[in-house]
Amino acid sequence: MPAPSRPPACDIAVFGGTGDLAIRKLLPALYLSERAGQLASGTRVIAISRAGFDDVDYRVKVAGELPRFLPAGTFSPALLDTFVRRLHHVSVDVDGGPGSEPGWLDLAVALARSNRTRVFYLAAAPALYGPICAGLARHDLITDAARVVLEKPIGHDLASARKINDEVGAVFREDRIFRIDHYLGKESVQNLLVLRLTNALFESVWHCGAIDHVQITVSETLGVGGRADYYDRSGALRDMVQNHLVQLLCLVAMEPPEGADPESIRDAKLAVLQALRRFDAEHVRQTVVRGRYTAGALDGDSVPGYLEELGAHPSDTETFVALKAEVLTPRWVGTPFYLRTGKRLDRHAAEIVIEFRALTTGVFRGVSGTGPPPNRLIVTLQPDARVRLTVTTKEPGPGGVRLHTIPLDADLTGASEPRPADAYERLLSDVLRGDPTLFMRCDEVEAAWTWIDPIQDAWRGAGGSPHEYSAGSNGPAAATALLARDGRTWHQEPLS
Ligand code: BG6
Repeated sequence: MPAPSRPPACDIAVFGGTGDLAIRKLLPALYLSERAGQLASGTRVIAISRAGFDDVDYRVKVAGELPRFLPAGTFSPALLDTFVRRLHHVSVDVDGGPGSEPGWLDLAVALARSNRTRVFYLAAAPALYGPICAGLARHDLITDAARVVLEKPIGHDLASARKINDEVGAVFREDRIFRIDHYLGKESVQNLLVLRLTNALFESVWHCGAIDHVQITVSETLGVGGRADYYDRSGALRDMVQNHLVQLLCLVAMEPPEGADPESIRDAKLAVLQALRRFDAEHVRQTVVRGRYTAGALDGDSVPGYLEELGAHPSDTETFVALKAEVLTPRWVGTPFYLRTGKRLDRHAAEIVIEFRALTTGVFRGVSGTGPPPNRLIVTLQPDARVRLTVTTKEPGPGGVRLHTIPLDADLTGASEPRPADAYERLLSDVLRGDPTLFMRCDEVEAAWTWIDPIQDAWRGAGGSPHEYSAGSNGPAAATALLARDGRTWHQEPLS
């Protein structure tokens, strides 16, 4: 695999530089970029927080914490030493009013010596995006070569997302705003479009005439742990469905874009969002399932339920959602998209399953009783990046024809070195190169909230609690029933 060209030297200013996201995801991704030779000499990472660190304190902290968040086999003490020399720390209380001015002035001094590309990465609470952008503008830090990266969640509903988009849009042009959805940086997700749009085998059957339904599942074994406070204000619908699952749905359902350029792809995704059937309260009651895990067992260990993890306060937040979405375009009439995500489930997996329509006629119809099972195209995002196509073949051996299903199986990463970039590493390098293809545009985010808000409103209106499921199970029975009502079942490993 040829290495991509290296972006020129730049300054990456990370607001929230001592926070969880920076330590667990961003700095490891930058370290991996260093390892891949993708950080130009002179590139600096300027962490911004209230912590009162100097550069040395910050480097010591990062050197101590970073190694545990690196993929196996990538740690090298010498490389870490090279990497941490790029790190600096500036203390700014971004929400501190006039008292915070000295910190902003320090940041201005730290950035002053360059007019190179400047990336402001906002790994802070979304409520701070407005004040941070206002501070950047007030101190004249937004140069022609400046970009801003926004982490999700972009708001908690349409109104709050618009407010954030307006505040950020008041100081940055839309083409300088990079809204991250790290699922778009995953290897299989990028492969989805290539797979579909470059193979006649798939593109010619990518429609309701040939596809019975689509399932998109992101199943996590982890609970909410230390994030219970954030999570309880969010829930699975807003934390996962509004962004990651909806983006995957868009990539599967979109019309072929006019080109591979960023705006054509984002226009095609937006068209899907605008074509999603809107929910009303009754429709939510029938086709959206919310669940919450209770105590159970995973890998032989007992684990607490969500309410125990949360501590003693009441909550009706969901840790699981399954729903049936419909894309009202001629391509998808009568082909539902089932989305499902949850925490503390029985497996760690993310996959898109395209189930083709079963053949109802054919020579071998009588052989297996019910006829050959439908073909399925299974694109796995996690734990590994693969694509499998299930096909019906003859069981080997004599004694007549008996049918069975086997997968044609391809590893999307190959066994090649260098290993493919991880999602954050790839997305950060796209920011440095100024390529917004894998980032969400303002109108996409708002259209996704427009679709999600009625679900949240219906739940609030209906009251009641989520369906319970035991930790370590595959979710609430109501999710199984959602598909059973349509005569379908969720895909489960091993392949069936
Ligand atoms: C994040 C959510 O966006 O994605 C988390 O906030 C979730 O709750 C995570 O655990 C899942 O990401 P991944 O890449 O580990 O599947």
